[in-house]
Amino acid sequence: TGSSQVDELLAQLSWAEKAGQLIQYFYFRLPEGADTEPALGLDPDRQPAMVEEKLRRGEAGSLLFVTDPGEINRLQRLAVEGNRLAIPVLFGFDVIHGLRTILPVPLAMAASWDLELIETAQAVAAREARAVGIHWTFAPMVDVARDPRWGRMVEGAGEDPFLGAAVAAAQVRGFQGDRLGAPDRVIAGPKHLAGYGAALGGRDYDEVNLSDPELWNVYFPPFQAAVAAGAGNVMTAYMSLNGIPATASRWLIQEVLRETWGFDGFVVSDANAVRNLVTHGFSADLTEAGARAVSAGTDLEMAMMDPAYGRLPSAVESGQAGAQTVDTAVRRILQAKFDLGLFDQPYVDEVRAREVLADPTHRDVARQAAERSAVLLRNEGDLLPLDATSLDSIAVLGPLADSRRDTLGPWVFDYDLDETVSVLDGIRALVGDRVRVEHAAAIPVVQRTYPSLFDMFGGNTPSDAPDFDPQVAFAKAVELARDADVAVVVVGEWQNMIGEAASRSSLELPGQQLELVQAVVGTGTPVVLLVMNGRPLDLRWPVENVPAVMDVWYPGTQGGAAVANLLFGAASPGGKLPFTWPRTVGQIPMIYAHTRSHEPDNQARRYWDEASTPLFPFGFGLSYGRFSYAGLRVDRPVIGLEDTVTISVELTNAGERDADEVAQLYLHQRHGTAVRGVRELKGFARSTLAAGQTRTVQFRIGPEQRRYWNAAVRDWVNEASTFDVWVGGDSTAELCTQFRVESSS
Ligand code: IFM
Repeated sequence: TGSSQVDELLAQLSWAEKAGQLIQYFYFRLPEGADTEPALGLDPDRQPAMVEEKLRRGEAGSLLFVTDPGEINRLQRLAVEGNRLAIPVLFGFDVIHGLRTILPVPLAMAASWDLELIETAQAVAAREARAVGIHWTFAPMVDVARDPRWGRMVEGAGEDPFLGAAVAAAQVRGFQGDRLGAPDRVIAGPKHLAGYGAALGGRDYDEVNLSDPELWNVYFPPFQAAVAAGAGNVMTAYMSLNGIPATASRWLIQEVLRETWGFDGFVVSDANAVRNLVTHGFSADLTEAGARAVSAGTDLEMAMMDPAYGRLPSAVESGQAGAQTVDTAVRRILQAKFDLGLFDQPYVDEVRAREVLADPTHRDVARQAAERSAVLLRNEGDLLPLDATSLDSIAVLGPLADSRRDTLGPWVFDYDLDETVSVLDGIRALVGDRVRVEHAAAIPVVQRTYPSLFDMFGGNTPSDAPDFDPQVAFAKAVELARDADVAVVVVGEWQNMIGEAASRSSLELPGQQLELVQAVVGTGTPVVLLVMNGRPLDLRWPVENVPAVMDVWYPGTQGGAAVANLLFGAASPGGKLPFTWPRTVGQIPMIYAHTRSHEPDNQARRYWDEASTPLFPFGFGLSYGRFSYAGLRVDRPVIGLEDTVTISVELTNAGERDADEVAQLYLHQRHGTAVRGVRELKGFARSTLAAGQTRTVQFRIGPEQRRYWNAAVRDWVNEASTFDVWVGGDSTAELCTQFRVESSS
């Protein structure tokens, strides 16, 4: 590391230069005629020139939103050759699910329950990012999400802390490799510390109020796992947690993140979150806002214009911020630049960047990821996989069937639509001339009715589906279905309906999509429904009435190729839901790891107008195999508090096709000094089994898996009790065994 070099540099910096190292500016050129949101204080004409001037003066330590390697080199040169100490710029960006090669959205990747794949996929994203000169990604988003109205659910790993922690760690390893600054890798920035997914009413940015047990047992574990995996950065959340804005929460940043979890990287605010301490009503003015954020431990301010940290020199002078506090923050930023090797090589090789972006192996990973993340929700009469040799015609219908932009999902910027494969493209390529493939979009694009920041930056550009007369188009689609041997209908949410600032008050399929599905089913032609989504949608009618339903999420660059392979059996779906799928928005929040509470078996006490069960349970997903579990056993029925049991089960694929299954272990502590969830995921393993194959799957349950944070003692406890263990293919698994933990054994 460069710690003595860091100290040497620090000693030479003026207060203005120190403050500058602690500011990350958005650098953007908005599209011609872009409608800026005045509330954000954007001045698209002045912004680039202002930032360039700051770079030359050494008063901008970091930039975001630049992805072109030539532009990155130009800006880097302005800084390195301009500022008197030649301190390079740290370039950060939202590489959420790929840069050029777009991977399935993070929620989909979590649905693969395949940690190796997740790591490999984010390594591809890191390789492309680093090649163009991006040093650090604002990912993974490790916020547990239990309210699908919240649009950012698509960016995380769903509702469960155990799965979330495993996925978070895998992503960090993928982005960073085995050490900070490794070649072809970027710094990972798990976000948003903490609790952002629990926004009131699912409304993005709204306040969050969470109890300590919920924080420690549910919302913190993915952060802790990401930190333990070596994450070099953490981003704070926008909102207040229990009344304190996260960006100025000393408890969160200093006590929990740094002191309890041992994080030693740098902390960045979310965009404009420091200046918004004033908006929250937490600070009187920008000087105080900056002083309070830096004092709480937020090292770097992400800002559009007029950053609060620009006032740190006066805050230090007046005593509002400590000089040592500011120095510590600057040290962390300089250290990251040394770790990345930027003082030795600040520039990127633009020729190599182009080669890396074109690497075909990246597309292979994207295709495999899309295949392995799909979740088969229904398959009556084994309609899937389709047999291309016995079909003459297929109708590929629906507004998302041929929209390449929507196939990619939200939070993508540098994609290439020409190389993106829609579902229609994928099916056509797979069946070739043997089968007649007809297409009708049927329904025009439903656009969100307000512009968002990310629309302007290009992250959520509108769908590329064409415009047409809806009535004619709808009728044509139904006609095509009637004439075809099978209809594949692709429905879901247009990608700009989900993501940041895209909460919904309903989970219904937007537009006339349900009517389309109903009309197509009404023709009597067998229907396969494909769903593109980043949250559960209201599929009550389709799940009752459509024989085959598969969730393909937003599957990315190679999405259509993957979907075609899945439809025709060249790949077998093996993903499982990383969330409980409610029947209706009125059931939200709905989680599988709830407690028993009072009279749990009296369903009528819950809702009188809707079942208390979900549409699909957490962990659910079918395959083209036929899996069964038997012989569940525990090696030691009675153990001591510090002991570990091994649990084994025989998993058999009794079907006629090779397929994947994710075996899941759920644990329940029967009694203790606090009530525990009816079931909690504590182990999982995805494996491929040939037709007819049986395999033993093993799990280990030790004190680490049994402990929980207890509000009575305000600490972790590991208690003597009887534990029930279920192993199976989803959270309703029936195969059960027990073991007992005794305090002296
Ligand atoms: O990284 C994001 C964050 O998740 C939400 N606000 C904007 C940041 C930068 O784009």
